[in-house]
Amino acid sequence: MQRGLFVTLEGVEGAGKSTLMAYIAEIFTDADNKVIQTREPGGTQTGEQIRAILLDKNNVGVIDDTELMLMFAARAQHINEIIKPALASSKVVICDRFTDASYAYQGGGRGIDPARIEILEDWVQQGLKPDLTILFDLDVETGLRRAGNRSEVDRFEQEEISFFERIRSCYLERAKNEPERFRIIDSSQSFDNVKQQIQDILKDYL
Ligand code: TMP
Repeated sequence: MQRGLFVTLEGVEGAGKSTLMAYIAEIFTDADNKVIQTREPGGTQTGEQIRAILLDKNNVGVIDDTELMLMFAARAQHINEIIKPALASSKVVICDRFTDASYAYQGGGRGIDPARIEILEDWVQQGLKPDLTILFDLDVETGLRRAGNRSEVDRFEQEEISFFERIRSCYLERAKNEPERFRIIDSSQSFDNVKQQIQDILKDYL
């Protein structure tokens, strides 16, 4: 049974979710919660190896179904090894990306039928869903510029701009369809403003 709190962070590249993860964790820790910070794809030894395959831009021939199933293979490992045990011991799990990213990137971006993604979601998650999903929303060009300044581009970041536009639209659509789970952050604002937006959201969960 799920007893902790499962928080996921989503958004296009460069929208700030990874940078703000530590801040979110600090807010929960200050309110006397035990917090785990993790990420997808990754979060386990096996998952991090799968991540390396997925992000390696030398893997030019990866077909869309392979990409999708590797995401869910890493997720299966992550859920069973890390997420479920942490939730069972009442921890707050903060995860940098989760299944909404599969709908946005492999569904919206690559064009895989969401009905297929749903099959994997049901299989792998068996009802597990985030309690709260914070969507960091930012126009795609600004996001990619920020991400590009940070490090060398990975296999996803080298895609064309329309790929990321479809991803952003898919995220926003999902947020519209599940308003009770999603909260949207306007990442175009200043760093301090974004922190304030986060505080406003989290006060309902402390
Ligand atoms: P990151 O850059 O946020 O760490 O995520 C790695 C990349 O993996 C990012 O470009 C988004 C992508 N991704 C998917 O395509 N599908 C997924 O299900 C997940 C979790 C990530």
